[in-house]
Amino acid sequence: MKQIKRNILLNPGPATTTDSVKNAMVVPDICPRELEFGELTLSVRNDLIRAAYGEKNHTCVMLTSSGTGGVEACLTSVVPHDKKVLILNNGAYGERMQKICDAYSIAHIDYNQTWGSPLDLIQVEALLKKHQHEISHLAFIHHETTVGILNPLSEISALSGKYQVETIVDAMSSFAGMMIDVEKDNIHYLVSSSNKCIQGMAGISFVIANLQSLLRTREIKARNFYFNLLENHLYLEKNKQFLFTPPVQTLYALRQAVTEYFTEGAENRFSRYASIYEVMKKKVKALGFEFLVEEKHHAKLLTAIMDPKSPAYSFNEMHDYLFERGFTIYPGKVGNSNTFRLSNIGAIYPQDMEDFLKVFEEYLRLKKII
Ligand SMILES: Cc1ncc(COP(=O)(O)O)c(C=O)c1O
Repeated sequence: MKQIKRNILLNPGPATTTDSVKNAMVVPDICPRELEFGELTLSVRNDLIRAAYGEKNHTCVMLTSSGTGGVEACLTSVVPHDKKVLILNNGAYGERMQKICDAYSIAHIDYNQTWGSPLDLIQVEALLKKHQHEISHLAFIHHETTVGILNPLSEISALSGKYQVETIVDAMSSFAGMMIDVEKDNIHYLVSSSNKCIQGMAGISFVIANLQSLLRTREIKARNFYFNLLENHLYLEKNKQFLFTPPVQTLYALRQAVTEYFTEGAENRFSRYASIYEVMKKKVKALGFEFLVEEKHHAKLLTAIMDPKSPAYSFNEMHDYLFERGFTIYPGKVGNSNTFRLSNIGAIYPQDMEDFLKVFEEYLRLKKII
């Protein structure tokens, strides 16, 4: 196997991958219309369904796009023309759902919360009640990666059940990083992508969809073409092929990543991520930093940390110092608050976080920021 330099990505995805995932992309050229590739495609699809505990009632539609494409495909394929979607927004990705709906003239009702603050479910329920006959779907972000807040999945989807609307969950940065059970959590559509907690390469988004709900979208006059969820699903079912040219090598990498997910075990992956978070939290607090989001709402997958007040601080300079030493961190401005973000997903381990924190502290002391 070719030795590849290992970078520790603490940005919120694409995440660090294993060498075996990287190497899985180096394969003989193959036409994706060949049966061999079709079988690979179906095996990945079925395993993604399994990872979401959706074998009973769900299917999975894979698309060639970044994560946003999956969210766009979902919203534009499933909301009937005479209905509205209630969108919960407490970060950039909730707002993005609203922008997608605006771009396609999909009617939406917005619940807007200050970014970084928890959703008020009493207000959400009041909106569901008030617009009961207009709303067909409730859409929200599970882990709002803008700030690292975890929105309460089961409580929100219980509200969808109570008001008989379908649930659309953007679980981009939480799927395969924490427990999500599409059946128990009453999720009709869950969207994620290949390059976050599943630890594959960028280029594939996927929508784990309740099959009955998806089949009912047949009645909706299509607003989209490339991104039509039902058409993509039916084509794969019938032909064992993607409807359009897939990112061939990325799919091989995803095959390997999904295998590694099951080999590690879901619970082990969740606790590995959580323990990296604990290492980060303890040290960052000891260094005197504050978090943007109250600790009890942390998703424990990404943390937004308030910038130090010292005039000697410059995010770009700190980024470059760390980057030169193999660690990538991420900026993050939320309203008037300047933060930087550290994520703890991907093929990284508690020791990597320890190593990062040493270099981080070294920089802060060198520049007299602490
Ligand atoms: C919650 C969430 N939704 C959507 C996206 C958009 O994904 P992409 O940048 O792959 O289009 C991201 C990206 O980080 C995300 O974290």
